[in-house]
Amino acid sequence: MSRAHNFNAGPAILPVPVLEEAARGVLEVAGTGMSILEVSHRSKEFEAILHDAEERMLRVLELSGEDYEVLFLQGGASTQFAMVPMNLLGPGRSADYVDTGSWAEKAIKEAKRYGTARVAASSADGSYSYIPTKLDLDPAARYVHITTNNTIEGTEWAELPDTGGVPLVADVSSDFMARKLDHTRFSLIYAGAQKNAGRQASRR
Ligand SMILES: Cc1ncc(COP(=O)(O)O)c(C=O)c1O
Repeated sequence: MSRAHNFNAGPAILPVPVLEEAARGVLEVAGTGMSILEVSHRSKEFEAILHDAEERMLRVLELSGEDYEVLFLQGGASTQFAMVPMNLLGPGRSADYVDTGSWAEKAIKEAKRYGTARVAASSADGSYSYIPTKLDLDPAARYVHITTNNTIEGTEWAELPDTGGVPLVADVSSDFMARKLDHTRFSLIYAGAQKNAGRQASRR
């Protein structure tokens, strides 16, 4: 098979050995005589795969399992636009959002349903062509939300903002595992699985 050049803003190219291992697992997983699509999600074989994936993820992100949990959830990153404020915001409470692109805008719109989503900075005035350097942060905010890479507009945070102790939450959907970052700076990160990990973020 000749492999296509794939510069999709969604799923990007994966190494062939990775695809081959995944293909083998679709036929038979862990000597069970069954496909990974056929084994119980409560079987010890599947649980071993799940725990291995969690451990690998923590290792790549250089995070400790003592301090961080890995969750595989349904609904993609868009569901997190709601789940984050549902869990961390609440009526009468305020969180700071940095509006750097179309996805950040959607996160803000959703958070406003659950509490106050303050826009601490925005680059909407420049058609989202830059990352704002001055943030008007509220020290009493429940959290500060950023979008580390703006898939559509192509801007990326080069350095994480100093939130002065306020928990930093990030949508990392389009640069997840694509660069070295001090992930201990985050209290929570989320990403949609429709893009594969480590895909190269685009930069203007
Ligand atoms: C930065 C960013 N956030 C959120 C989403 C939405 O993700 P999902 O399709 O998993 O809801 C995307 C896009 O595809 C994205 O690029």
